[in-house]
Amino acid sequence: MFNLENILRPNIKNLVPYSSARDEFKGKEGIFLDANENSFGSPAKKNYNRYPDPLQLDLKEKISKIKGVPVQNIFLGNGSDEAIDILFRAFCNPEKDNVIICPPTYGMYEVSANINDVTVIKAPLTPENFQLDLQNILKNINSKTKLIFICCPNNPTGNGVKWDNVKQILENFNGLVVIDEAYINFASYRSLIAELVNYPNLVILQTLSKAWGMAGLRIGMAFASQQIIDVFNKIKPPYNINVASQQLAIEALENVEQINDWIKTIVKEREKLKSELQKFTFVEKIYPSEANFLLVKVSTPQKIYNYLVGKNIVIRDRSKVTLCEGCIRITIGREEENEKLINELKSI
Ligand SMILES: Cc1ncc(COP(=O)(O)O)c(C=O)c1O
Repeated sequence: MFNLENILRPNIKNLVPYSSARDEFKGKEGIFLDANENSFGSPAKKNYNRYPDPLQLDLKEKISKIKGVPVQNIFLGNGSDEAIDILFRAFCNPEKDNVIICPPTYGMYEVSANINDVTVIKAPLTPENFQLDLQNILKNINSKTKLIFICCPNNPTGNGVKWDNVKQILENFNGLVVIDEAYINFASYRSLIAELVNYPNLVILQTLSKAWGMAGLRIGMAFASQQIIDVFNKIKPPYNINVASQQLAIEALENVEQINDWIKTIVKEREKLKSELQKFTFVEKIYPSEANFLLVKVSTPQKIYNYLVGKNIVIRDRSKVTLCEGCIRITIGREEENEKLINELKSI
């Protein structure tokens, strides 16, 4: 049986969290002489002389309406990278515990593990279609395994993994299953957010950096049980999302229609780019993508990368990544950018 108390690090269980001035007084009106701010104002204008809301409640209200998740089940981080790091700090005892990742996948899971001195067990995706190797994952779980990371749609392969496999893991693991849905807005299937009520050990990560077009504001989201979110809030830095990012994101989240239009266009452009790329003799395989990028196997990845850089077009050489030998990853750009890419490749 999953019990959060059993996987929480003892020091976090016993932690007395920092109580900020804005934690202690939550009112919006008054003469604020509590946080040693500059009461005269800010040379950056606006209200940047004041500390932000530590729990970002106005922004969470907006996200709550869009995602259909209660505010108490939402954590906001300085990018989802902060949520990933907090998972390690909250649940993994350095030098003792381990996590399972499924390469090829997003690099920060392993980097965060290394920073936190936590062992990484690798259960690679199946080489032919990048699905979870369920038996290998289940076999590798031991009493020290705290987290299993599953990226869906996966970066850099672009595909989604089978829900049935994820379900088996959720049901047979007493640690947390972290589903990273950074690219979910581009997928043909739904988020697993609706499953949160069924699985107390499920954590879902999303971000405003991809489809929402706010990578520069650094806002990542974690959705989970209130008990898990309370742990996140207990250990996060008090003011982890700055005032400007909160305000700009609140305004931007009004533009759902614009975002949906962009998503449709990006998906259309993805399929167009795919069919154009297929015509080149140096393209050996284009993997099916549910994201805003394509993983493409080519005969000479480095040569193509260098050639494009020479033309001022930057893609990602993924040819050194496990199971991605010979591959480049191309983000779907604007129509004219994708056309330029194809035209340059024609003269290679
Ligand atoms: C799968 C995945 N998760 C998380 C992130 C990081 O997101 P954020 O910008 O919210 O830190 C990325 C960024 O490339 C990603 O590919």
